[in-house]
Amino acid sequence: MAGRHLKEIFKAFHARDELAFRRAATEIIEEEQAKHHNALARDLQKLLVSGGVSIDSGATVIVPAPPKDREGEWDLGEVKEPQRLLDDLILDAKVVNALDGLSKEVRQWPSLDAAGVGRRQRILFEGPPGCGKTTAAEALAAELGRPFLLVRLDAVVSSYLGETASNLRRILDYADQAPFVVLFDEFDSLGRSRDDQSEHGEMKRVVTAFLQMTDRYRGPSLLLAATNHSGLLDQALWRRFDEVLTFRKPTVHEIRRLIRLRLRNFAHITVDVDRYASALKGLPHAAVDKLITDARREALLRDAEAVGPEDFDAVLSAVVTRPW
Ligand SMILES: Nc1ncnc2c1ncn2[C@@H]1O[C@H](COP(=O)(O)OP(=O)(O)O)[C@@H](O)[C@H]1O
Ligand SMILES: [Mg+2]
Repeated sequence: MAGRHLKEIFKAFHARDELAFRRAATEIIEEEQAKHHNALARDLQKLLVSGGVSIDSGATVIVPAPPKDREGEWDLGEVKEPQRLLDDLILDAKVVNALDGLSKEVRQWPSLDAAGVGRRQRILFEGPPGCGKTTAAEALAAELGRPFLLVRLDAVVSSYLGETASNLRRILDYADQAPFVVLFDEFDSLGRSRDDQSEHGEMKRVVTAFLQMTDRYRGPSLLLAATNHSGLLDQALWRRFDEVLTFRKPTVHEIRRLIRLRLRNFAHITVDVDRYASALKGLPHAAVDKLITDARREALLRDAEAVGPEDFDAVLSAVVTRPW
């Protein structure tokens, strides 16, 4: 372990500077990974995610605040401690492999850099709403032991193209300060001006500006963008991302697995999982979660000890008929 990183970590402790601490910790993990000390790297990562990051027990932890827009009115992003894990998600094998590969690769960036091999640093998640794009981004941050920076595109997008671009610049400068997983969520809203929801040419210009701005980005952060509407833009534009991951709705089999996963901690022996899985056919994962949450609420409200079929039946049709 390089002395430089050790010194940084000690300095960060004294300064109560959580970002500097994370930066040094992440570099140590990457270094151990590069030396193929996989078990140690993985353990360190787990510690970094599961509370090991808290270098200050209870008192103030100084994390530089995310940037604001020019008027200082809106926060352009929000830093979150990632909570959800990839194990909480049911995803198709292709996406799982891609996410695994990506998290391994990010840890190996120093080796790629040393060998002059390009990084994949700018990734697009596309697919229908409620299929796990936002959650997967957060889970990837957890997996990597990095803080999750959720960009607030509603604050970034200004009626002036120039201002939108400088807001994006502010976010990227911030993402240069520490190894975040950054998510530009609802990416398609970029360039839709506040007054006109359908302005297509403008969106193309802003997305192009974003791609140009990030083309040479070699900072420590992984940049993710997510969209429900990839059809709104030309394929040519999407292809400029280093990788595009397509999220899709679950099969009935996957719905069944998700119901079982969500009920694993509850007494559910009496619930006919197959029946509910068929009833939810064609709906996104988010609908499955809603069915379970609504049924649990129902059970709690009637003071039942366990959630049962009557609770599922009471909420099923509302879940199935609402728009998704
Ligand atoms: N693939 C999935 N596996 C399990 N749960 C999921 C999945 N996708 C979505 N969910 C659930 O639905 C909710 C909304 O998902 P989200 O990640 O916001 O979807 P998206 O960003 O694609 O619209 C999540 O909080 C999660 O509980
Ligand atoms: Mg989302």
